[in-house]
Amino acid sequence: MTTLAAERAVGPAGAPAAPCLDARAHPLDIAAEGIVKRFGCVTVLDGVSLAVRRGETVALIGANGAGKSTLLRTLLRLVEPDAGEPVVLGESVSRLGGRALRRLRRRVGVVFQRHNLVPRLTVLTNVVHGALGRTDLRAAHQAIAPRALRDEAMACLARVGLPHLARQRADTLSGGQSQRVAIARALMQRPEAMLADEPVASLDPAAGEEVMALFATLTRDAGMTLLFTTHGMAHALAYADRVVGLRAGRVVLDEPTRPALAPVLERFFD
Ligand SMILES: Nc1ncnc2c1ncn2[C@@H]1O[C@H](COP(=O)(O)OP(=O)(O)OP(=O)(O)O)[C@@H](O)[C@H]1O
Ligand SMILES: [Mg+2]
Repeated sequence: MTTLAAERAVGPAGAPAAPCLDARAHPLDIAAEGIVKRFGCVTVLDGVSLAVRRGETVALIGANGAGKSTLLRTLLRLVEPDAGEPVVLGESVSRLGGRALRRLRRRVGVVFQRHNLVPRLTVLTNVVHGALGRTDLRAAHQAIAPRALRDEAMACLARVGLPHLARQRADTLSGGQSQRVAIARALMQRPEAMLADEPVASLDPAAGEEVMALFATLTRDAGMTLLFTTHGMAHALAYADRVVGLRAGRVVLDEPTRPALAPVLERFFD
């Protein structure tokens, strides 16, 4: 497992580094070292380093345009970084060729703000599609997927509390239901780690709270690493072990979560 300078977490104003989980029991699952991303002449990520240990939940916060989504995307090279090295599940991502990169992406569940379900397909079929990466493509694409896949998809739907909606078309769901289905689809991937970009931002506060709690509980119970971006300070404080703050493409905060952090975090949410 790669050791990165990113492990030397950045405390505010040169404060001591945030304590890390035991490196042997919790190797780095997601790391970035000196990531730079420019769009034209604008530098959006300016040497970002980050380290998330196995089983850790980390919230990435920052104002609009701070670079959160871009950073998340560079980790799997959904956006190609101009410099720097993402290391995910022990793989140096920038060195991977097409097939190896696809294989790695299958090991990481990704949940976006907009769920990207296929509208005209049933909820169950959408969840079955989560298995596309790890099973015979035709099996998961069939109008009627094999029994084992359907059973597993039903189990994933049960985990998000929606087994009764299995036969409903995805375009008939509420926002909260859709996002739960998107989480079920990500679980169907049997991921080792999860990246989530504002997973509840499109939901009303009550639904957002419910879905975020469910998501955090499911990943924590599975011992899964979770890196999520949020504009919700309460969500960062309630569900993350650690909070990383971006400002203008730089990490300016990396602290374990504790109630006393609230006034510090407030500066990121004005
Ligand atoms: N494909 C692109 N082409 C040009 N500029 C881009 C592109 N993607 C992102 N940007 C710019 O990069 C900056 C960071 O965007 P990003 O979406 O990463 O911010 P963010 O922190 O996720 O913001 P938000 O909280 O609004 O989601 C913004 O100024 C944005 O306009
Ligand atoms: Mg964003």
